[in-house]
Amino acid sequence: VNDLEAELYDLVRDVRTWVEWQASTGAQGLIVERDLRAAVAAQRAASLESDQGRPEPVVDAPAHRAAAPSFAQPTQAAPRAPEPRHAPRADAPASPHARGLLSSVSLGRAEREARLRAIAEVVSSCTKCPLAEHRTQTVFSRGDPMAELCFVGEGPGQNEDEQGEPFVGAAGQLLDTMIGAMGFGRDEVYVCNIVKCRPENNRTPTDAEMAACMPYITEQLELVQPKVIVALGATALRGLLGPGEGITKARGRWKLYRGSIPVMPTFHPSYVLRMGTKEVKGQVWNDLKQVLVQLGRKPPQRA
Ligand code: URA
Ligand code: SF4
Repeated sequence: VNDLEAELYDLVRDVRTWVEWQASTGAQGLIVERDLRAAVAAQRAASLESDQGRPEPVVDAPAHRAAAPSFAQPTQAAPRAPEPRHAPRADAPASPHARGLLSSVSLGRAEREARLRAIAEVVSSCTKCPLAEHRTQTVFSRGDPMAELCFVGEGPGQNEDEQGEPFVGAAGQLLDTMIGAMGFGRDEVYVCNIVKCRPENNRTPTDAEMAACMPYITEQLELVQPKVIVALGATALRGLLGPGEGITKARGRWKLYRGSIPVMPTFHPSYVLRMGTKEVKGQVWNDLKQVLVQLGRKPPQRA
């Protein structure tokens, strides 16, 4: 029990450090993993050089960092805060994010909601890709940030663009039916999209647009930490797992998101609506039943 208490203590302290670091950077945007890797690599290179007789790099981490909990990544020295778009203040502590801390931490509801709200706020004024030009508003998410099940779609359509919520149009109604058939309430799951702005004429977002928007969903999924992700359609699959098989080939077979969260690819509800065949509907239902088994739930009889 003492060990557990100590570990919890460390966890709380690190989360606090992370939040304080975030606040002290005055960050306007999000921390892109690529930048963090570069920062860590630069730090490693610097400490290698210092091993060869050069002066030690200045590490501006708080003293308690020396007692890092056991799950911390084995960095040789605390990495400096990265220097992306939003230069952190010189006195900001190193980001625990850079040590892979966040992926080990599961935050409580209030903290999650607050952090998600902060990301949604950043997204609402984002102009990182051309999709910003045609949107009425950004569309961030709907549902429960504590959910064990998360559905990921492609991007807002016209209804979503007008109402500011994902999956509220015809495809959304079918998605809600699917969610209900699985035995969940509409708002017991978490729903979001690969891109947060509507592509004009509902065209498929380009790889560049998806890449520009990716840090947002990465943060969302990192915070929500669902037990299972359902990738709705080819774009969701491509966005989450990179180019590979098309959805027809991939659907029904488990994948892994970032090596940890099981992903079930299935057809997009719009495709189901368009095709409407018994076969396609049956395939989607089979995929969802596999999801229920993975979640340890009993698949209800299909209505
Ligand atoms: N299609 C999607 O992929 N996402 C939505 O939010 C709505 C329709
Ligand atoms: Fe920003 Fe994503 Fe909207 Fe592009 S789609 S402007 S990256 S929020």
